[in-house]
Amino acid sequence: MKLKVDFNNMMKGFAGPVEGFSKEDIDALAVKISEAHQNMKEKRAAGEMDWRKLPFEQADVIKDILETAQELRTWCENFVVLGIGGSALGPLAVQTALNHLHYNELATEKRGGPRLYVLDNVDPERVAALFDVIDPKKTVFNVISKSGSTSETMAQFMIVYQLLRDKLGNTYAKNMIATTDAEKGNLIKIAQEEGYKTFIIPQGVGGRFSELCPVGLLPAAVCGIDITELLAGAAYMDQLCEEADVYRNPAYIRSTLQYLAMERGKNVSVMMPYTDALKYFADWYAQLWAESLGKRKSLTGEEVFVGQTPVKALGTTDQHSQVQLYVEGPFDKVVTFLGVSRYRQEVAIPKVFNHIPGISFLGGHSLGDLITAEQMATEYALMKAHRLNMTIILPEINAFTIGQLIQLLEIETAFTGELLNINAFDQPGVEEGKNATYALLGRPGYEAKKQELEGRPEK
Ligand code: PA5
Repeated sequence: MKLKVDFNNMMKGFAGPVEGFSKEDIDALAVKISEAHQNMKEKRAAGEMDWRKLPFEQADVIKDILETAQELRTWCENFVVLGIGGSALGPLAVQTALNHLHYNELATEKRGGPRLYVLDNVDPERVAALFDVIDPKKTVFNVISKSGSTSETMAQFMIVYQLLRDKLGNTYAKNMIATTDAEKGNLIKIAQEEGYKTFIIPQGVGGRFSELCPVGLLPAAVCGIDITELLAGAAYMDQLCEEADVYRNPAYIRSTLQYLAMERGKNVSVMMPYTDALKYFADWYAQLWAESLGKRKSLTGEEVFVGQTPVKALGTTDQHSQVQLYVEGPFDKVVTFLGVSRYRQEVAIPKVFNHIPGISFLGGHSLGDLITAEQMATEYALMKAHRLNMTIILPEINAFTIGQLIQLLEIETAFTGELLNINAFDQPGVEEGKNATYALLGRPGYEAKKQELEGRPEK
């Protein structure tokens, strides 16, 4: 069950002589690719990319997660993730990919585990709405924050803390699980003082690279997802991506083509799954790609701005909206389709209305035939218009292939960071916003930032 990467429509002959790339274009980057490969090795040795170890080195953590999940599944009706960004998008993407698309609405026996809610915003209406549909006593709240200080997550946590204390008194701690750094931040201190079950986000695993540590594995296991298979898939892909030869490494070839595209002004990267199950993968990818690669760098005193704006689309839904722009709008995009060879369910289109040829041709096909044809048709329309596009094909959606997809896209992102010569693992732009929020709401230590904010031009 190996993922396939089809990049034909990025190449001359498919994407046309002007837009497409040649083997010579790729080979001209040989030195850069080899340096990037070397840099990745050095960063790994220095512990800066420990997310690559996650599929291999978590035996004790997995045991703990599985035991915890098993126990929770006996009594817990709702499992609520409190987190944002990298602490929320992965759990949501994996849950949607691997569990029933109406999982929360299934009867308890069919679900076999608690409903899952991922509260990744502080919209008061959304938070209040959640409390209308859950019984806090039968709910476990998994507060996830690497820094242990993000305002949104900590505010949610404080609200839930008070709620649980009011409802459950001193026994409330069994309804709270903290996933955070081993030392840094306030959350670990509170968790230890209050006696919460705690899971650790390892060093060298940044927010958006954390899906395969307890951040993503605990919610997945609690909802019955086979996390061992997820990690096995990631390990399999990781090994494929050890290869130095760009033509044999699926992450490197995608990354190199994206890099070439960026050099030619393709500033937009669209991810368009042709399955609702991967809809939230496009959200997860959008964060990974944007936050890792959208950077300002200084080159001999001159400032350069790099990155690609990620766009989320869904096939076939967005064929009837965005695809017009992709086919005829500016030549500024690379589209990645996510396709599946076999859908897990099939629905037949009945042979009815035989007297109306304009629709009767659909009868006898399945919805799988239709969506596959639609994907092929969109790829064709883009190719005909010389628009760059690639396809990642999953033989089927299962824990093993989803593990592969996560690792593929993470390695591709990190490698693109090396090609761009930027740090893919920091996020100064996001931190600036976090710090400004602390200052505006009066966090001690942020007085200078507050002054700076007050000095901003009046609107
Ligand atoms: O990728 C990142 O580092 C960010 O998106 C973080 O995941 C996000 O800001 C949440 O941070 P934290 O987990 O520290 O609360």
